[in-house]
Amino acid sequence: MKKKKFHSDSKVIIKRLWKESVYKYKFHYLLAFFFMIISAAGEALTIKMFQPIVDRVFVAQEVNMLWPIGFSVLYIFFMKGFALYGQSGLMGYIGLNIVNDMQKKLFSHITTLDNNFFHNNKTGSLVTRFTVDTVMMRTAVSDTLTSLCKDSLTVIFLVILMFYQDATLACIVLFIFPAAFYPVIYLGRRMRKVTASTQSEMGSLTSVLEQSFHSISVIKSYNMENFEKSKVGVSVDKIFRHAYKACRNRAISRPLMEFFGGVAIVIVIVYGGSTVIEGKTTPGAFFAFLGALITAYRPMKSVAKLNVNLQEGLAGAERLFEIMDIQPQIKDKKGAITLSSKATNIEVKNLSFKYPGNKENSLEDVNIFVKKGKTIALVGSSGAGKTTLLNLIPRFYDCDKGEILINGKNIKDITLKSLRDNVSLVSQDIAIFDASIKDNIRYGSLDATDKEIEKAAKLAAADKFIEELDYGYETIVGERGAKLSGGQRQRISIARAILKNAPILLLDEATSALDTESERQVQKAIEELMKGRTTIAIAHRLSTIIKSDCIYVLENGKLVEQGTNEELLAQKGVYANFYNLQFGNEKSK
Ligand SMILES: Nc1ncnc2c1ncn2[C@@H]1O[C@H](COP(=O)(O)OP(=O)(O)OP(=O)(O)O)[C@@H](O)[C@H]1O
Ligand SMILES: [Mg+2]
Repeated sequence: MKKKKFHSDSKVIIKRLWKESVYKYKFHYLLAFFFMIISAAGEALTIKMFQPIVDRVFVAQEVNMLWPIGFSVLYIFFMKGFALYGQSGLMGYIGLNIVNDMQKKLFSHITTLDNNFFHNNKTGSLVTRFTVDTVMMRTAVSDTLTSLCKDSLTVIFLVILMFYQDATLACIVLFIFPAAFYPVIYLGRRMRKVTASTQSEMGSLTSVLEQSFHSISVIKSYNMENFEKSKVGVSVDKIFRHAYKACRNRAISRPLMEFFGGVAIVIVIVYGGSTVIEGKTTPGAFFAFLGALITAYRPMKSVAKLNVNLQEGLAGAERLFEIMDIQPQIKDKKGAITLSSKATNIEVKNLSFKYPGNKENSLEDVNIFVKKGKTIALVGSSGAGKTTLLNLIPRFYDCDKGEILINGKNIKDITLKSLRDNVSLVSQDIAIFDASIKDNIRYGSLDATDKEIEKAAKLAAADKFIEELDYGYETIVGERGAKLSGGQRQRISIARAILKNAPILLLDEATSALDTESERQVQKAIEELMKGRTTIAIAHRLSTIIKSDCIYVLENGKLVEQGTNEELLAQKGVYANFYNLQFGNEKSK
C-alpha cells in the first residue's frame, strides 16, 4: 500500500515538473539528446577500435594500418568531445534556467501569501526553499535526465556491441547485472525520506542562526551563549544524523555494484579467454568485448543509482510545489472594484476578529466611524487590540464578523492594490531596508524625485540628522536600519508615508521613540500631513492625540469609551484614568 503511494507520488511530481518547468525547454532537451546519441555512439566506437588495434596492429603487425587507425581514433575522440561539450553545456543551461525560473516564481508567489503564512513559517525554512530545494530540483531535471538519457544510450550501444562481438557471452553477463539493481532501487526510496528530513532540519538551523545573530546583544547581556550553543548543537547533530544515513545509503550501493561487476569480468576472462585459446575468436574481438563490459560498468552504475538521485531531486521539487500550492485567502474578489484615490469615510461596523489559531477574539463588536479628513485616535493598554484593528484596514487579515467600509464600500469588494494605494501605514515594527536613506524614503513611491524626498524628510523632521551623516541621503543604513537610532528609524518611516501621499493615514505609535523636541517637530509634521486626510492614530503618549476629533478607548478588544478629550475627561472613566496617570506624572516631574 505504502509502496504504491510512493510511486504515484513520484509520478505526480515528475508530471508536474515536466509541465511547469521542463516543457519550456523541450527544444534544448531535444538538441542535447542529439548530442547524447553522438557521444554515446562515440563511446561504443572507441571500444570497437580495440579489435583492429589488437588484431591488425599487434597480432598481424600491419605497419600501414598504424596511421589510419590512429587517425580514426582521433576523429572519434574529437566527435565525442564535441558532442559531450554540447550536451553538458545545454543540460547546464536548462538546469540553471529552471532554478532561475523557479526562484523567481516562488518569490512572487510567496509575496502574495497572507501575513498568517509568514507568522506560521520560519524565515529560515523559507530561505532554504530558495537556496537548497531549487538546487535539488535541478538534480532531478538536469543531472538525472542526463544520466537517464546519456548513460542509458551508452549502455545500449555497448550492449549492442557486446552482442555483436559474442552473443552467448553477452547473454550470460547481462543476466548477472540486473540482480544488483534491486537493492539500489530500494535504497533510492529510503533516500527520499532521509533527504526530506535533512532539508527540514536545515531550515530550522537557518532560523536558529538567524535569530541568534539578530539578537546577539540580548544573548550576551543575559549570558545565554551556552544556551544558544546547545540549541545550535542539537540542530547540527540532527543534520549530521540524517546526512550520515544518506551517506551510508549511498556508500552501500557502490560495493554492491562492484561485486556484481567483478563477477561478470571473471566470467568473461575465463569463458572468453578459452574461446580465444581454442581459436574460435580473435584476441581483438575478446578485448573489444571486455572493453565494452568495463566501459558499460560506469554508465550502468549511474543508471542503477538514477533512482537515488531522482528521489533526492523529487524531494526538493515536492517541497517547492507544496508552497506553490498554498493559496492566499486574502485576494481580489471576482469583479472587485477600484477605489478612487479620494478615499473618504472609514466605517468599522460590528467588527469581530480572532487570529487564526487563537482561542479568544482580539477584537469584539467594534464600531468606529471616521469622517473624511478627520482624525480619530485609538487608546488602550498593551494587547488591547489597537494594532490589530489597524492591520485589518489594509486587509493584512480579514475580519471574521462585521465589515469595514471605505466610501461606503466593503473593503473585501475593493481590489487589494487600490485599497493599499489609498493607505499610508506607519507601523509599530518599523521596516527599514539595507539600502540608502534615500531609497528607504522612496520605498513605495519609486518615481519620486530627490527634491520630493528631501521635502518629505524635512516634514518628518528627519532632514537635520540625515544631512549630518557622512554620506547624507546616500548613507547605507545596515540591515533593519541597524546604523540608525530608534527615533531616526521612525522619522524615516514617517517620511516614507508622507511621500506616499495617500488619503488614509494609519499611525501606530508613530512618535513613541522620539525625544520631546523631535516629537514636537514630528507632531507638527503629522498635523500638517493629516490635513485633508482621514487618519487613525494610535499613541501611548496622549499629548499626541489630544486634538483628535474623537478618541476611542479599547480594552481587551472591546470599545469601552469614545468621545473628545474633554468629553472623556468629564466621564472620569478609563481614559481619564490614563490621562491622570500620564499628566499627573509629568507634572510631578
Ligand atoms: N500575529 C498574531 N497572532 C496571534 N495573536 C496575535 C497576533 N498579533 C497580536 N495578537 C494578539 O492580539 C491581541 C491584540 O494585540 P495588538 O497587537 O493588537 O495589541 P495592541 O493594542 O497594539 O498592543 P500594544 O499597545 O502593546 O502595541 C494580543 O492579545 C496579542 O496577543
Ligand atoms: Mg500595537
